[in-house]
Amino acid sequence: MPMTRREFLFAGVATGAFVGAGIVLPVAISLTDDDGNPDSEALLYPRQRVASLSELRNGEPVFFDYPLVGQSNILVKVGAPAEAGIGPDGDIVAFSNLCTHMGCPLIEFQADHGVLGPCPCHFTTFDLARDAQVTLGQATQQLPRVLLTPDGDDIYAVGILRLVYGYSDSLTGGERVS
Ligand code: FES
Repeated sequence: MPMTRREFLFAGVATGAFVGAGIVLPVAISLTDDDGNPDSEALLYPRQRVASLSELRNGEPVFFDYPLVGQSNILVKVGAPAEAGIGPDGDIVAFSNLCTHMGCPLIEFQADHGVLGPCPCHFTTFDLARDAQVTLGQATQQLPRVLLTPDGDDIYAVGILRLVYGYSDSLTGGERVS
């Protein structure tokens, strides 16, 4: 049965978790729009191992490129339940760390507040437990979410929700990670 985009997000894209570990393979999922009408768009993202559950520590971010080289992302075990978080505590999330204002890289995670930023360019901060909503600053859009799925001790990126800054399509315009 087709999923709406919203159902796709909250399902944790578990339906994409059927291929072998350590191998980048495409995941294709048919979607419907929010009104249930057929959506001809098909997502075709690689499945990329990005972290180990056992090696994550609260507030210590992991950076990785996905799905294209140069599309930088941050994965964080926030330390408190997070919207669409995965893992035993539901607190592991990942987002593009290219600021939605003008694309500057966000590298500072404030563990005590659960926010990413301030952006080094114009000081925007994003709440990672609330789907990377803007909490302060110049940006007006939340960060693109990296869709994650666990497989044993491994965490895989299997897609991106929302457009990465500077790209008209998050899957094209560069070299795929491998
Ligand atoms: S580029 Fe991040 S706030 Fe302007």
